[in-house]
Amino acid sequence: MSEISGPRTIPGDWHDGTIPANVAIDDTAYIESTFSFVEFRSEMVPGVTMGRGASAYFGTMFDVGSQGRVTLGEYALVHGARIICDSTIEIHDYALISWNVLLMDNYRVPRDPDARRHLLERVPVLSDRRLDGNTEPAPIVIGRNAWVGFDVCVLPGVSVGEGSIVGARSVVIEDVPPFTVVAGNPARVIRTLQHQTSDRHD
Ligand SMILES: CC(C)(COP(=O)(O)OP(=O)(O)OC[C@H]1O[C@@H](n2cnc3c(N)ncnc32)[C@H](O)[C@@H]1OP(=O)(O)O)[C@@H](O)C(=O)NCCC(=O)NCCS
Repeated sequence: MSEISGPRTIPGDWHDGTIPANVAIDDTAYIESTFSFVEFRSEMVPGVTMGRGASAYFGTMFDVGSQGRVTLGEYALVHGARIICDSTIEIHDYALISWNVLLMDNYRVPRDPDARRHLLERVPVLSDRRLDGNTEPAPIVIGRNAWVGFDVCVLPGVSVGEGSIVGARSVVIEDVPPFTVVAGNPARVIRTLQHQTSDRHD
């Protein structure tokens, strides 16, 4: 696992950026572009960890606040998800996250309309024009070998169990048990899966 201080670039990257120093990437992991980090503000060390063989493909955005930590386990693959993290988001080994998925551990917007209006009025005077409602985050866990289909939204505090599948375009509002298929808005169990846990790496 490399954790290097100073600028790091990606050969052939279309975006003229660097991988932040507090992003720990295994030598066999892959990030397609440093554009994935334009919204990365984590002060944690590490703020992002990518394990052996992990991948973050085009369109993946690490929108990570100062206290946020994101972990991609071994061979976890994220294909263009938006990861909004102010506490922790763990994507365990062999988890597959499809296109346009949204994993958010914090709404960042208050429910009270007056507080929301006050927040919006402040945006033009903030140097980074960033919405931050100081709301409470709740960690997300995507279990080992889970598969999250395209356009899925996973809300704060949700865990998706080992080996489970979340159907395309679902909104996941509560924990998904292991080896279960859920789908819909809100996501509901549609079946359970036969399973045999394997630690083979072939
Ligand atoms: C969930 C999924 C895996 C199908 O699972 P399945 O066990 O074969 O489910 P079925 O097709 O038999 O459907 C079972 C029920 O769930 C419903 N359903 C299936 N997928 C659904 C979805 N994404 N949203 C809402 N309902 C869904 C079906 O309409 C059916 O409902 P019914 O019993 O009332 O008729 C599949 O629908 C899916 O969403 N795959 C994700 C594909 C994807 O994102 N690919 C990205 C490439 S990595």
